Amino acid sequence: MTLRAIIAGTGGYLPELALDNDALAARHGLDTSDAWIRERTGIRRRHIAAPGQMASDLALFACQAALEQAGAMVDEVDGILVATATPDSVFPSTAARLQAKLGMERGFAFDIAAACTGFVYALSVADAMIRVGQARNLLVVGTEVFSRILDWTDRGTCVLFGDGAGAVLLRASDAEDGRGILSCHLHADGRHGDILQVEGLPGQLRMAGREVFRHAVAKLASVVDEALESNGLTKSDVAWLVPHQANLRIIEAMGRKLGLPQDRVVVSVDRHANTSAASIPLALAEATRDGRIARGDLVLMEAIGGGLTWGASLARF
Ligand code: COA
Repeated sequence: MTLRAIIAGTGGYLPELALDNDALAARHGLDTSDAWIRERTGIRRRHIAAPGQMASDLALFACQAALEQAGAMVDEVDGILVATATPDSVFPSTAARLQAKLGMERGFAFDIAAACTGFVYALSVADAMIRVGQARNLLVVGTEVFSRILDWTDRGTCVLFGDGAGAVLLRASDAEDGRGILSCHLHADGRHGDILQVEGLPGQLRMAGREVFRHAVAKLASVVDEALESNGLTKSDVAWLVPHQANLRIIEAMGRKLGLPQDRVVVSVDRHANTSAASIPLALAEATRDGRIARGDLVLMEAIGGGLTWGASLARF
């Protein structure tokens, strides 16, 4: 029997404190404006974790929601893969801390570091584990507290990011109905590491925004073509684009490239800002729960982030 990994449940969590652009500027004494941030990025607000609230705390709520939607019990989960650039600690991994918080007494847990591409990387690893029969139910999580690694005096970066978590429960299924992850495509080019980085532990985020923008448009366009071609699919087969939520201008450019009307592109960057590895599963959770993404829909996910890393995945829901 051919095994496929289906997305059986999704969940998202955002910390309570939400700051719009004006509130953020006032809180940190930033020389910026709501108009500048909205025009360049599409961001209107972001959520900020409470003091002491860690990546694993946010992830816990997202996982509980994903399990509930999938109708799965925690003791059915074989493993947890957490994508994060803002782990609770060097070790134990955030995944192991999350495992304990979930009350899970079996299975494995580990973190994956690929910055904003982390969820696509984690999805790829989990998909492969399910296909070879190594696991049947896996929690794949993106969770971030970027507010802890931002330089709040650098207006060019601190306005762009937010905190949050998203999770999916991947479940083994026979491939008969065509549902599941079709393929994942991962890339990295460490030569460009210095254009988006956090040096030291704990360090602060530094970014050459224009350089990142230039790489993003070219590399995402290429990996999206690669994903479609490898499945013998075309742009017109895609029902929904669920992109990494870094910047509305990049998201809209990708929608145009795919010839998708904007209402087929899932956007949350306006309300969440860039939540790095959490942004795709958070957007997935919104769009599956409000009924936009329906069973049978072909969904294209793509992301780029520090490393540089980038990747894409196609899934039939
Ligand atoms: N408010 C007001 N002005 C700001 C500002 C802010 N928050 N941040 C930067 N500026 C100013 C700069 O100081 C500069 O002023 P100057 O011309 O007087 O020197 C001017 O705006 C232009 O700065 P620049 O950095 O060239 O702007 P940009 O048009 O490239 O926009 C980004 C900046 C970050 C929005 C844009 O480069 C971008 O989106 N890059 C991709 C980032 C990304 O997606 N990263 C995550 C990938 S995972």
